[in-house]
Amino acid sequence: MKEHIQHLLEQTISSLKDQAVIPQDAAPRVQVDRTKDKSHGDVATNLAMMLAKPAGKNPRELAQLIIDNLPASDLVAKTEIAGPGFINFFIDSGHQARQVEAIASDPRAGIAPVEQPQIIVSDYSAPNVAKEMAVHHIRSTVIGDAVTRTLEFLGHKVTRANHIGDWGTQFGMLIAYMEKVEGENDAEMKLSDLEAFYLEAKKCYDEDPEFGERARNYVVKLQSGDAYCEKMWRKLVDITMEQNQAIYDRLGVSLTNEDVAGESTYNPMLPEIVADLLEQGLAVKDQGATVVYLDEFKGKDGNAMGVIIRKRDGGYLYTTTDIAAAKYRYDNYRADRLLYFIDSRQAQHLQQAWLIARKAGYLPDSTTTEHCAFGMMLGKDGKPFKTRSGGTVKLSGLLEEAHQRALKLIGEKNPDLQGEELEHIAHTVAMASVKYSDLSKNRTTDYVFDWDNMLTFEGNTAPYMLYAYSRIQSIFRKAGVQADQLDGSVTLTHEKEQALANKLLQFNDAVQGVANKGMPHLMCSYLFELAGAFMSFYEACPINKEEVSAEDKASRLRLCAATANTLKVGLGLLGIETLERM
Ligand code: ARG
Repeated sequence: MKEHIQHLLEQTISSLKDQAVIPQDAAPRVQVDRTKDKSHGDVATNLAMMLAKPAGKNPRELAQLIIDNLPASDLVAKTEIAGPGFINFFIDSGHQARQVEAIASDPRAGIAPVEQPQIIVSDYSAPNVAKEMAVHHIRSTVIGDAVTRTLEFLGHKVTRANHIGDWGTQFGMLIAYMEKVEGENDAEMKLSDLEAFYLEAKKCYDEDPEFGERARNYVVKLQSGDAYCEKMWRKLVDITMEQNQAIYDRLGVSLTNEDVAGESTYNPMLPEIVADLLEQGLAVKDQGATVVYLDEFKGKDGNAMGVIIRKRDGGYLYTTTDIAAAKYRYDNYRADRLLYFIDSRQAQHLQQAWLIARKAGYLPDSTTTEHCAFGMMLGKDGKPFKTRSGGTVKLSGLLEEAHQRALKLIGEKNPDLQGEELEHIAHTVAMASVKYSDLSKNRTTDYVFDWDNMLTFEGNTAPYMLYAYSRIQSIFRKAGVQADQLDGSVTLTHEKEQALANKLLQFNDAVQGVANKGMPHLMCSYLFELAGAFMSFYEACPINKEEVSAEDKASRLRLCAATANTLKVGLGLLGIETLERM
């Protein structure tokens, strides 16, 4: 409804410009806010105050002119001028009721696709080959997936870019080690424990000079396109990504093998880029290395900071690859927005890579680069999340533990559930909990991983949200109706019905917030408030009771359907599935 009022005001501005009341070059930012106190209407704007000066009128006088020129709309029941020149809008509850009715049966829950879809590249997950997914990869995966789904839902054209770490000197060592254990015929099995595989390879490299020699030789061979090395490398990548795909599938993350565009993708571009940066005079040779000095970044000595893009030994760096990736994403897709879901500690790295790409003319000003940064994942003790012995926590093990805990929680709450149904519910609750507890916190802060907090029915948690949804389903079952076949009309008489309707009509704000800011917690907070508004409504307004009139019952069931649908669509955008019963 905010957008609707905003739209009306924009039309009014252009008609006042035509009448020469407002100068043609005035371009005010039309702001419409919800009022805190409903006696001042539902929304208000300070537009008249902003335009008073350029129009040479006093604000209240201009406010009246704006009201007189407002296009007719059945949403607006009444307007009034308040204080120094605010315009208050009172929304027609009949119109709101019609909107709520529409939400109940709309697969998009009332959200229209954007008029001008953008081209967006979304860089998320990005685990490393022959390594277990680390905690920062879980955060990136879950947060990036929620934002990506939301952007797609709005009609934007999004390319997922899984920038896996599949290139670098470590592959010489990994190939040599795979060759060694392949003789023992259990390479596949050894790779199933990636962490151990990597550590063993490193050990051989450090301790056995002959092995080290072979490893270094393989690095050179791999880089020059040797078929044998490439085959071994591919095998390492495939085995790792097969394991990661199983995790994506279990978690319900929308990434597939098609989305993998690892560091190796950009490797062939690197010599050209370094040559071009040298030619443009952006890079210089410095003691055999190639360096870009950036005035925008000062080193400890106060001098421009040097970013190495090619080492003395000829090797390229993580930053060089990211310069190439940014260029590729523009050249190949003509992207409007480049999103990066990466740990906040990589902020400087990204800023430097983008700045170099911009200076070199690889990215136009119209393409934005956005670091959707997130904090660390901490254990309950406030220290970085690790196993008791200080190792990386395996994501597969963590998901299994979530499943076991959910089984216990659901089993205790509902002892009648058994077999496949119990397994399905536990699986859904477990994956939802792992995701939701991460998504519901503002991503920029560190996140404390805590089993007890994520698996409780109290507060802003996945179990609570799923329960709220399934509870509405049980209301339909009790009433003997199908949620998608309701035709009663909604009337918003009770204060709690009105409040629930207001909340339902704010869904669009939440969707836009996630899309524009890349912050899924805005959706979680909204859905939590919606569930709260529903619970208060349900307490105050009975449905399946005898004394309730047929009209009231039909209206309330429709409100229930609108709520359930919004919860389902909203959770779906976060990558979370709902349950009909639990
Ligand atoms: N593989 C990297 C890591 O493990 C993350 C890559 C993120 N994406 C990027 N374009 N740099 O930290």
